[in-house]
Amino acid sequence: MNLIFLLQLLLGLSVLGVALYLLTPRRYQSADSVATSYDEWTEDGILEFYWGEHIHLGHYGSPPERRDFLKAKFDFVHEMVKWGGLDKLPQGTTVLDVGCGIGGSSRVLASDYGFAVTGVTISPQQVKRAQELTPDGVNAKFQVDDALALSFPDASFDVVWSVEAGAAYAG
Ligand SMILES: C[S@@+](CC[C@H](N)C(=O)[O-])C[C@H]1O[C@@H](n2cnc3c(N)ncnc32)[C@H](O)[C@@H]1O
Repeated sequence: MNLIFLLQLLLGLSVLGVALYLLTPRRYQSADSVATSYDEWTEDGILEFYWGEHIHLGHYGSPPERRDFLKAKFDFVHEMVKWGGLDKLPQGTTVLDVGCGIGGSSRVLASDYGFAVTGVTISPQQVKRAQELTPDGVNAKFQVDDALALSFPDASFDVVWSVEAGAAYAG
């Protein structure tokens, strides 16, 4: 077997491996595995470094225009507020932000609209980071909770907010 053939074989196997990885959907494992992944991404700061405090897509206007990537994420929250009619609700409205990440939306809802927000996530590290990022006086608190087995009694909140989180809840 000559060297060229060996290299070609290795390259072919690598390409095949990458293709198989990309083409094989990764199956949902458990809430614990989701929590562990978000814990790791929060601890190493990779999501926050690239995406800022919002782990969701942005709004780029209608018609779409060029916008700063991080600003567009804030704009998206305000668009969702309008779209959902939340801008007509009084200050003090209670909101549960399910799958709150590191609390980006929760803080906007509390600071800009005067809502009393509780953010829940399956990831303890996200709760810790959300608390660190929330200044005193902003009415947003955070706790670990599982969206599929929430610890609150029924009808505890006026509004439930959940952005880009549902797909992670279960397989
Ligand atoms: C893509 S992030 C979106 C975060 C946030 N909504 C935002 O827009 O910045 C998905 C969030 O869902 C949370 N999550 C996933 N499964 C969950 C579950 N079973 N219960 C509660 N939160 C969960 C993750 O921990 C993460 O905070």
